[in-house]
Amino acid sequence: MRRYVYLMSEEELGSLLASRSFPLEVLGREKGKVIFGVYEPLKGYRPLRVEEVPEDWRSWREGFGPVEVEDLVIMPPWKLPVFIKPGTAFGTGLHPTTRLSLKALRESLRRGDSVLDVGTGSGILAVVAKLLGAGRVLGIDVCPDAVRECRENAELNRVEVECREAKPSQLKETFDLLVANLELSIFREELPFLKRLFRREAILSGIYGKEELEELLELCKQQDLEADRIYEEENWFAVRVGDGRT
Ligand SMILES: C[S@@+](CC[C@H](N)C(=O)[O-])C[C@H]1O[C@@H](n2cnc3c(N)ncnc32)[C@H](O)[C@@H]1O
Repeated sequence: MRRYVYLMSEEELGSLLASRSFPLEVLGREKGKVIFGVYEPLKGYRPLRVEEVPEDWRSWREGFGPVEVEDLVIMPPWKLPVFIKPGTAFGTGLHPTTRLSLKALRESLRRGDSVLDVGTGSGILAVVAKLLGAGRVLGIDVCPDAVRECRENAELNRVEVECREAKPSQLKETFDLLVANLELSIFREELPFLKRLFRREAILSGIYGKEELEELLELCKQQDLEADRIYEEENWFAVRVGDGRT
């Protein structure tokens, strides 16, 4: 397939994008100008070069946006936007423990799953679960501010998420999938309760370093929970466990 490569100043590209939105792949920058590729020629602009590139749709997609122009964010339709209002509760997507939970959630969630998010904070994991096609989603937290912010963020993303002030020991229901981004000291106390709340699998995040990871894996073993996947980013770990029946 053909890629048309252009060189433009940030301002020129900004005003072009403001007048017509199109997907582009930023290839580099040179003396304050942007080198970018598009797969349809831009009318009225002469390309630097036209090149043949392999038709690899995956990497082709990965190169796109989002592109920001003042308060506008332009993104291709295969991105999934998630709105999180800055507040006091934890969970903006910047911390590795949240990112690992999101990655694991993406891999484990099946359409229609019921999901329990323990320690929901801003509600980011609960909201994403719903956006990814979950059925019933409940977010719980011990902090009332987090419960309020979880509700606000669910509204902002126009998804239905139940948010409740509660600890795992206070719940009687079960869910297909459980996600808990907490910390080791909380897992020491809560794991026996968490175990009773999910049917298929659970994602446990908030673990720092190999020593904590080993202790969590030992705690899981004591609860007959089988760890089948470990995620790592910057020495933070998340573990996916099944209840041994699946
Ligand atoms: C690290 S934040 C995670 C926030 C969000 N889920 C994320 O992944 O970014 C942990 C949250 O767990 C809550 N929490 C701490 N102990 C808890 C417990 N025993 N039961 C429920 N929530 C708890 C805290 O109030 C905090 O909001």
